[in-house]
Amino acid sequence: MKLRTRIIGTLLAATVAFSSIASAKELRLGLIVPGSHAWSIAATSMGEELEERSDGKFSVSIFPAGQLGSEAQMMQQLQTGALDMAFLTAAELTNRITDFGALFAPYLVTNVEQAGELLSGPTAQSLLNRLPRETGTVGLGYGIAAMRLMLTAFPVDNVDSLNGRKIRVTPFAPVQDFYQVLGAAPTPMPLPAVYDALANGQVDGIDADLELVWKLKLYERGETLLYSRHMMFPVVGLISGRLWAQLSEEDRALIAEVAKKHLNRLFDQYTEIEARMLAKIQKTEINVIEAGPEFFEGKLKQWEDIWLKKSSVLADLRREADKLE
Ligand code: BEZ
Repeated sequence: MKLRTRIIGTLLAATVAFSSIASAKELRLGLIVPGSHAWSIAATSMGEELEERSDGKFSVSIFPAGQLGSEAQMMQQLQTGALDMAFLTAAELTNRITDFGALFAPYLVTNVEQAGELLSGPTAQSLLNRLPRETGTVGLGYGIAAMRLMLTAFPVDNVDSLNGRKIRVTPFAPVQDFYQVLGAAPTPMPLPAVYDALANGQVDGIDADLELVWKLKLYERGETLLYSRHMMFPVVGLISGRLWAQLSEEDRALIAEVAKKHLNRLFDQYTEIEARMLAKIQKTEINVIEAGPEFFEGKLKQWEDIWLKKSSVLADLRREADKLE
């Protein structure tokens, strides 16, 4: 009996060793943002640290600017195992798990540091825990982009200036609902298409952030920058669930630790990035207008009513956010 147990044990150990990755592995990582964007830079430094700490067992090849397709396509590739890793917007995850949409509640946080605290809290972390079962991917951690604002090709005096205007939005429901309640005509469009759409008048304005306005040269096509900081814009580091299943506990722990570290660093970096981008944009012809929640008058309440029905975690997130400094 003892011998049989030992043989079965040996066979099991051999199977685990066979199924876990033993030789060097190049991890392919996709992003929708350009190579100069802070997310791409974070992915590159993550890859360097992973290669060093795994003694060359893991390396990371970065595919920015949607080279591997849209975020929806990259998500599918992660699910089939055709792609190993991606840094995807929480917007794309909202298209799979509606509750992620609560992270985009207007004025849930006022700056990127608060965003970091909220995303490290229990409700945001519990959303990550749902990814394996509901999407077949594993969430390694959150990062952030700059706070959202509007760049318009027309003057803006008050919220009524947006009435009927075609505003480019990232293709997902929370931001479409936001512009709908503002009386604008939200026009869903992925990031790589934005410059041309603004240049050829397909849209009258865009929902974006300071980094995109500067690095994609969108300021060349705008007239007013409504510096509203109305939403945070989280990114999630993902790894294919199929690949994850083949990794040893030790490899999983290393990848998870290094990915989280480089994603979380974005919370600190964006305060400086936002200040630097704003200073550059202020030197252009663009008219920068500061705006807070009062600019939107009673419209924010309408968004809240819609999303309290759509998402069961919004109320919890608001409670956690109320406690932030
Ligand atoms: C956007 O759709 O506006 C977006 C996508 C990725 C990063 C930042 C913004």
